[in-house]
Amino acid sequence: MAEVKAIEWANGKLRLLDQTKLPVEQTPLELDHYKEVVKAIAEMRVRGAPAIGVAAAYAVAMSARDVQAESHREFLAQLAELGDEIASARPTAVNITWAVQRMIDAAESEPDLDLIRTRLLAEAQRIQEEDVEINRRMGKYGVELMPDGGAVLTHCNTGALATAGYGTALGVIRAGWETGKRFHVFNTETRPFLQGARLTSWELVQLGIPSTLIVDSSAGLLMRRGEVSCAIVGADRIAANGDVANKIGTYSLAVIARENGIPFYVAAPTSTVDLSIPSGNEIPIEERQAEEVTRFGGAQTAPEGIDVRNPAFDITPHQYITAIVTEKGVVREPYTESLPETVKGMQVES
Ligand code: MRU
Repeated sequence: MAEVKAIEWANGKLRLLDQTKLPVEQTPLELDHYKEVVKAIAEMRVRGAPAIGVAAAYAVAMSARDVQAESHREFLAQLAELGDEIASARPTAVNITWAVQRMIDAAESEPDLDLIRTRLLAEAQRIQEEDVEINRRMGKYGVELMPDGGAVLTHCNTGALATAGYGTALGVIRAGWETGKRFHVFNTETRPFLQGARLTSWELVQLGIPSTLIVDSSAGLLMRRGEVSCAIVGADRIAANGDVANKIGTYSLAVIARENGIPFYVAAPTSTVDLSIPSGNEIPIEERQAEEVTRFGGAQTAPEGIDVRNPAFDITPHQYITAIVTEKGVVREPYTESLPETVKGMQVES
C-alpha cells in the first residue's frame, strides 16, 4: 500500500491533500502563497497538530518570498510579523508556534541574505522528515501498551493524515499491528467535523486493521461491557503538569475509561509539550463556526436562530492519563518531573 501523504513540497508549491473532501474525493490543493496555506489550515484542509506544524513551517518559508529587506535585522523583523500571522491560523495546537519559532531560529542562524530563503526551505523540509521519524519512534515505544487480543479505542484522526506520515496515536496502533499483535480498533466518529468517520476509517481500511466505527456517545456502553482493552489518543498541547488538550470529547472518554478501569494513553511528539504552560487551564481553546454543528454533510440539521457553542478541543486532567508516549519514551506520573526531563532530551525507560 502506498503511504498516505498529506503534505508534499514540489516545484516551489505546497501540495496538500484536501482533508475536507476525504474520503469521497482525493483532491490535491496546490498552494503557492503563504496566505493560502494560512487559509487551508484555518479551514482544516490540513489538520492535526503535527501536520499543521509542518504546513506552517512551509508557510514561513513561502512568506520569506514577500520579505524585502536591506539587512538581516530588517529581514528577521518582517519574518517575525509574518510568523505571527501564520501562527494565529489555529490557536490550540502548540506545534504551529513551535514550528514557526524553529523557522525564525533558522533564519537567525543564517546571516547571508542571499542564502536565507534556501535555508528556510531546507528547515521546513527537515521538520517534515523528522516528523515521520519521530512518529515511528513513538510507535516503537508504544507497542508494549497495545494489547494482543481485545480492542483499542481511538478518537479523532491521528494517523498519516494528521502528521507528515505514520501518525501518533494511530501510529502506535499501527506499530502494534505491524509487530504482529492482533486486536480490534473502535474509532469514534468525532463530531462535528467527523475526522474519525471520514479520515481514521479511511486510513484503517487502507492499513487492513480491523476496525469498527462508532458514534462518540456509544464509547461508554462498550467500555462498561468490557469490549475495550485500552484507549489511545493524540494531543494538540500538553501542559507542564501533563494536562492534555485534544479533540473535543477526549475528556469524556478519559473519565469513562477511568470509571471502568481502562488504561487511557496519549501519544504525542515532545514538540506538543508546552512547558511554558503550567496546567491545562491556560491552554487556549479554539471555538469554531456554528455551521459545523448546525449542518451535517451540507444539509441543515438545526433550526435557524439556535445558539451554538462549538469548542474544538477539551482538556483532560493529567490524573486520567495512564501514560504519554513520546519519541523519547513512555512517560508517567509525576508528569511535572517526567515531562521536563523528557522534553529536555533525556531518554526515559519505556
Ligand atoms: O481539529 P483537528 O482535526 O486538527 O484536531 C486534531 C486532533 O485533535 C488530534 O488528536 C491531534 O491534533 C493529534 S494529531 C496527531
